Amino acid sequence: MSILVTGGTGFIGSHTSIELLKRGEDIVIVDNLSNSKIEMCDKIKMLSGKDFKFYKVDILDRENLEKVFKENEITEVIHFAGLKAVGESCEKPIEYYHNNVTGTLVLVDIMRKYNCKKIVFSSSATVYGDPASLPIKEDFPLSTTNPYGTTKLMIERILTDIQKSDNEWRVILLRYFNPIGAHESGEIGEEPNGIPNNLMPYINYVACGKLDHLNVYGNDYDTHDGTGVRDYIHVVDLALGHLKAVDKIRKMPGGTEAYNLGTGTGYSVLDIVKAFEKANNLKIKYEITSRRPGDIAACYADPTKAKEELGWVATRDLEQMCKDSWNYTKKYIK
Ligand code: NAD
Ligand code: UFG
Repeated sequence: MSILVTGGTGFIGSHTSIELLKRGEDIVIVDNLSNSKIEMCDKIKMLSGKDFKFYKVDILDRENLEKVFKENEITEVIHFAGLKAVGESCEKPIEYYHNNVTGTLVLVDIMRKYNCKKIVFSSSATVYGDPASLPIKEDFPLSTTNPYGTTKLMIERILTDIQKSDNEWRVILLRYFNPIGAHESGEIGEEPNGIPNNLMPYINYVACGKLDHLNVYGNDYDTHDGTGVRDYIHVVDLALGHLKAVDKIRKMPGGTEAYNLGTGTGYSVLDIVKAFEKANNLKIKYEITSRRPGDIAACYADPTKAKEELGWVATRDLEQMCKDSWNYTKKYIK
């Protein structure tokens, strides 16, 4: 009996796979390596001290994905596989809808055929759009502003409808806030393709000299210092949230549940710059520039539901997130 981890060699999938293996779960990873490297498999084995099966398979490839279900007794699926760059999704909507939405449809169709009806899905705080108030609760209205976000919301709705049609399905939608940090070993972390879009990788690239300075996208938002506020969460805390979700999905009767995975604390861009400088004893050069189109002023979670129903809380603080990010960058990003 194994948990199938799609996208398991990616940033969040690799950290989650290590934690699953460490607690004795059998896992099978499927990834097409479009945004990760095969070497990650050895790192996962080294950091967990356990072995697992890996298939280089695209979830759109029905025949080969089905082989994974034929060759293994898959009891639950944690579904990370997907394309995730907001800007790119505006330029390539067809690729994003096809990969994320069609890929998920292929996956759930095979799951149904093999009578595997438990799925934990990687959703995002982006499904809340620009929230009317803060902190954000799971029952807030949902809306999106870009194709990437729309794929997440569409998949949430597809999974919810599948569950409604057949009460044997158990669906958990995990809405991640802003995952940062890296494994404490410094062996694995986030390695974006090209120039990073996200704040923490960008700061790391400035720190190691790959980029000259950080552009702070606006200081005229209605926040404590005018810069954008987000709920940053350590990727290992996020990974541990998936273990709790697996526990829950094994116990729950049929149904769909959404959970915010965030800390509940919002930090501004300048808070992050200062925390990174202090944690790592470095200076980060920055310039204030205009707002980035599509950005919202502030976004942070109310994580109470995850605490009460999953027994999960984030425990790693911002200093740890900044230290672990830099620890990985200085070792591996050249
Ligand atoms: P990632 O790109 O590091 O990992 C995704 C993995 O999926 C990659 O290894 C990639 O090769 C694989 N993949 C993509 N399409 C595939 C396909 N068709 N078939 C097989 N494998 C495929 O991204 P991540 O940051 O680890 O994110 C994991 C999930 O969490 C994604 O679904 C993402 O949308 C979601 N998410 C991420 C964030 C974030 O800020 N990192 C926030 C909210 C939600
Ligand atoms: N920012 C800068 N300069 C940069 C990059 C970011 O000032 O070079 C600012 C942004 O304006 C924002 C904050 O830093 O105020 C965070 O930006 P990120 O790009 O790191 O993260 P976002 O909140 O915009 O979006 C991320 C993912 C989305 C996901 C969302 C919620 O990119 O896919 O978190 O999980 F949906």
